[in-house]
Amino acid sequence: MNSVIIKTNLVCKSYVTDGEVNNVIKNLSLEIYKDDFTVIMGSSGSGKSTLLYLLSGMDSITSGEVFLNYKNITKCKENEMAATRKDKIGFVFQGINLIPDLTIRENILSPTYKKKMNKLIIDKKIDNLLDQMDLSEHQKKFPSQLSGGQRQRAAICRALINEPDILFADEPTGALNSQAGESVLDIFTKIHEKGQSVVMVTHDLKAAVRGNRIIFLRDGRIDGELRLNDYENSTAKKREAVLYDFLMERGW
Ligand SMILES: Nc1ncnc2c1ncn2[C@@H]1O[C@H](COP(=O)(O)OP(=O)(O)OP(=O)(O)O)[C@@H](O)[C@H]1O
Ligand SMILES: [Mg+2]
Repeated sequence: MNSVIIKTNLVCKSYVTDGEVNNVIKNLSLEIYKDDFTVIMGSSGSGKSTLLYLLSGMDSITSGEVFLNYKNITKCKENEMAATRKDKIGFVFQGINLIPDLTIRENILSPTYKKKMNKLIIDKKIDNLLDQMDLSEHQKKFPSQLSGGQRQRAAICRALINEPDILFADEPTGALNSQAGESVLDIFTKIHEKGQSVVMVTHDLKAAVRGNRIIFLRDGRIDGELRLNDYENSTAKKREAVLYDFLMERGW
């Protein structure tokens, strides 16, 4: 059974700038399922990044409720929330935000620093990740010495080092050329096949069809969703065509 991993109930998020209130997310109720690779699409400014921050507990909501594994995270204290994020959530940001003064290895290890974990186990985990992502030979370099694709793969390693239940990614291929983008997407496909939940924001059709559930956001509200066929029963081209029609119907 495809169980619910995140549920939101009438969530609102507003920003106040110069005394003016901007309601960015409006009474949004949504369920995210554990076995899905969920994709959030919508035009620029529709609230995709904001929604991803709310779903992952990275930002606080203005009103409503967010449940992670049936636990109401809206009521969590900040230190409790920080621990939950570290344990359960990996986040790949829009625009790669590695720490410039740390090496690639140190960047990837940074989420483990405050955890009581056996160093040998962590070393083994990071060595595996570096190997899988083809980064072993770059681990002692600094972010500025790597290509965009390598930096993005390092950011993904950092998001995966604590083996999160859910991986969130905001436009993970946005800054990459198509070849580097494909290799990053292959990693997401593998993660999903291994049984981890993935929630990704993208504006790229090729990236979106890696998912199986597409949610379309318009002006802070959900304006339709689409379930794509299993990979076994359809080609990427067919999936792209179905998604393209769905998006065109919404004036994308
Ligand atoms: N920290 C903030 N303070 C004030 N307004 C904000 C803040 N963050 C986002 N907004 C506003 O909220 C709206 C939605 O922003 P958001 O970043 O979620 O859009 P998006 O769908 O991710 O867009 P894009 O595709 O360009 O990344 C925008 O109008 C933006 O200006
Ligand atoms: Mg965004």
